[in-house]
Amino acid sequence: MPGKYLSGLKRLYTSRKESFSKLGKLHRVFLDNIVTSLLALIVIGFGVGIISSYNLSFRLVESQAEQFARVAVRTLNTARETYSKQVVRRVQARENVSVMAKYHTVEGAIPNPATYTIEVGEALSDRTQGMLFRLYSDYPFPNRIKTGGPQDSFEWDALEYLRKNPTESFHKTEHINNKLTFRYAEAITMNASCVACHNTLAKSPRKDWKIGDVRGVVEVTQPLDSIMLIARDGLRGRLKSKKANGG
Ligand code: HEC
Repeated sequence: MPGKYLSGLKRLYTSRKESFSKLGKLHRVFLDNIVTSLLALIVIGFGVGIISSYNLSFRLVESQAEQFARVAVRTLNTARETYSKQVVRRVQARENVSVMAKYHTVEGAIPNPATYTIEVGEALSDRTQGMLFRLYSDYPFPNRIKTGGPQDSFEWDALEYLRKNPTESFHKTEHINNKLTFRYAEAITMNASCVACHNTLAKSPRKDWKIGDVRGVVEVTQPLDSIMLIARDGLRGRLKSKKANGG
């Protein structure tokens, strides 16, 4: 037993000695190559600096995009509510005016508030630029069955999240067609007047809506590539001016 204990102690001692001598070697290597080592440290430090600057500008670009999306969603929602209160209600009180989704070909008809928002969103969108303002839901009316429903995993995820957290927002930065893109979504919830119509309209795809239910989503998608390029050029510019200043 004591023999085993002693040999264990010896092994520990020699392994310690080896690791100390390894450390010593490393130390010597470092001292021998002090210039190379310092250069390596400078390069690493510089690299870390550039990466953290890039990360910081990325976070700034993202928060700016989120701010823009919040304002855009509020603008679309206010346009829909104001149109509904100040136009639809007043006009509806007069005769011969119908409020409908397919108003385009009907004499004297005007768009439903949701139809109005969908069309304003389409007019503002620029698909070639990757800019999108959209109102969608998982219960589109029959006239919108192709385009009204969620079109990709972001739109499904946003709906699922906002159904559970209707007062929050949902956003994500992802690549679409090789473009870095910021996507943002908020819920549209039902009040008594919404429920009354959606539960009675013949073509309504679901008729058991309750007050507070999430009926759909307003989504804003914006490309970040061009802003990130500006941020990157800004970083390059800083590096260049550092060089010019001898820094
Ligand atoms: C007078 C009836 C009526 C009222 C009131 C009404 N809606 Fe609608 N809603 C419709 C019709 C019709 C459509 C289909 C419009 C279209 O597809 O162009 C629709 C579509 C929608 C959609 C899009 C669904 C989809 O995916 O196609 C949402 C979201 C929506 N309504 C929410 C609301 C909310 C929220 C309110 C209340 C603030 C409301 N609606 C009030 C009739 C109504």
